[in-house]
Amino acid sequence: MGKKKIGMWLYQNGGGDIIQEKLIKQLNNKGIEVIPNINLRDATAENSNITWNDIKLDKLDLFFSYNAGEQTQYQMYLFKALSNILPTINNFKAFELTEDKFQTSLLLRKNNVKTADYKLCHRDDTFHLNEIIKQWDKMVYKPTDGWGGVGLTKIENQETLDMLLPFLNQMDLRYFYVEKFIDYDNTDFRIDIVDGIFVGGYGRKAGGSDWRTNITSGGSVFKRDIPKEVIKLAIKAAKITGLEIAGVDIIYDRKKEEYLVLEVNGIPAFITPEQEKIGIDYNDKKIELIANLIERKVNNKTKKKVKVKKGNK
Ligand SMILES: Nc1ncnc2c1ncn2[C@@H]1O[C@H](COP(=O)(O)OP(=O)(O)O)[C@@H](O)[C@H]1O
Ligand SMILES: [Mg+2]
Repeated sequence: MGKKKIGMWLYQNGGGDIIQEKLIKQLNNKGIEVIPNINLRDATAENSNITWNDIKLDKLDLFFSYNAGEQTQYQMYLFKALSNILPTINNFKAFELTEDKFQTSLLLRKNNVKTADYKLCHRDDTFHLNEIIKQWDKMVYKPTDGWGGVGLTKIENQETLDMLLPFLNQMDLRYFYVEKFIDYDNTDFRIDIVDGIFVGGYGRKAGGSDWRTNITSGGSVFKRDIPKEVIKLAIKAAKITGLEIAGVDIIYDRKKEEYLVLEVNGIPAFITPEQEKIGIDYNDKKIELIANLIERKVNNKTKKKVKVKKGNK
């Protein structure tokens, strides 16, 4: 058997370039060759091949896709196609699931993982939306495929809902996804899990009067002790979604006095050089676990070839 060869697409900003270099080095030491910077946006498919820069990607032993910021619909479309013929990390099924907040919440709740209470209804079903605001008093409207806190809208009362609905209706949405607004201290836990193992975690704090902890919404990162209960919850959530690499966001509900899973991310950013300066320094552990995971996957690879029975008609 020839040398194993994998394709990689990892973000380059925020220290991603350094992570990539370290990961490639570890994989090379394991005898795995890496072709980096494969943006599937520049690939084409023809008959039985998916080609990028004259390289037949369908012949690779694995594809590692880790770039949330530059994702395009076309890139995702080819990533899905590749996932039907070779192993990918994350596996496409889990990745696709966690790209959608509603699909993830439903599955987590079915498996007894606490999340924020939510409701999904058809875009024209204002009846159910009006019902739910009466019951919850405050809620959050969320695009199911968003990130970075973008598009999240706090709905404080019936009046805000009445004002918002005409705007949402203009946006040509298929459905509304709303969550009960959780009474929490405006901090969360981000927990990194690789291959079912707890890698590390840190806290995020919303900035100023904002209630969202996302860095893109003005939040900041801080070093934080992670309670055992939070680690256990994160491992369970990652397992249920099926993600090999997961970043689980957890908050503490002050009313119910319990931890909730707010979100499971399939492409959680590595610790940036700035964050490392405040003592959050588990990137190397994460890189090692990912390298081991990739090594295992390329070695027990059962190529997804459909067996065709030879008939004797
Ligand atoms: N139900 C909620 N109640 C209170 N705050 C919330 C709720 N949902 C989200 N938030 C706040 O908004 C932030 C972004 O929400 P999240 O669901 O993680 O979406 P995104 O994918 O945009 O990060 C969270 O980190 C949290 O601070
Ligand atoms: Mg989030």
